[in-house]
Amino acid sequence: MSRDATPADFPAILALNEAFVAVLSPLDAARLARLHAQAAWHRVAEVEGRVTAFLLAFREGADYDSPNYRWFAQRYPRFLYVDRVVVAGDAQARGAGTVLYRELHVQARRDAVPWITCEFDLEPPNPASARFHARLGFGEVGGQSLHGGKKTVSLQALDVVAGDTPLAAVDAG
Ligand SMILES: CC(C)(COP(=O)(O)OP(=O)(O)OC[C@H]1O[C@@H](n2cnc3c(N)ncnc32)[C@H](O)[C@@H]1OP(=O)(O)O)[C@@H](O)C(=O)NCCC(=O)NCCS
Repeated sequence: MSRDATPADFPAILALNEAFVAVLSPLDAARLARLHAQAAWHRVAEVEGRVTAFLLAFREGADYDSPNYRWFAQRYPRFLYVDRVVVAGDAQARGAGTVLYRELHVQARRDAVPWITCEFDLEPPNPASARFHARLGFGEVGGQSLHGGKKTVSLQALDVVAGDTPLAAVDAG
């Protein structure tokens, strides 16, 4: 289970972001506060008082300058874009990331949002994220090169309406 993130969680969120900044984009306290204010969904998982994971997502219409967010905003009228999802190293591969996505999927259905979107790095590769997102039912809908060709990303979307994806099966109970 997760809960809404609050400003008191920001130091822990910044530390998680910093630990995996190579596969994310950099974040400082001021930028995190701005993203938090724009976010449609910002949740943390907590284990014995320690924040072990977070997920930050935006709906269409957010004031957000990320080229990946802009890519989806230009093509999808209604979507929930996962800007970042991070699970602490010692808590990975135990289902925390899946729980965060499951709750996001329930929220997307509730709000009749047809697509959950995100991206992961192809170059340099992030195979754990690629496998994680494929397992949840995401598929590639595009790609782009960033930072003057230093990074290539796979743009991914999950059909929220389809009844035959792994997350839909979980929703159905
Ligand atoms: C990617 C990430 C969010 C997944 O969360 P998680 O809690 O570790 O994943 P879960 O336990 O819910 O799901 C497990 C699945 O994720 C994938 N996965 C997680 N860690 C993995 C690893 N080290 N290597 C390969 N696959 C991995 C696998 O598909 C695994 O299931 P499978 O082994 O049955 O195929 C997490 O590993 C993470 O925070 N990584 C660092 C930051 C990051 O890459 N964020 C995403 C940026 S796009």
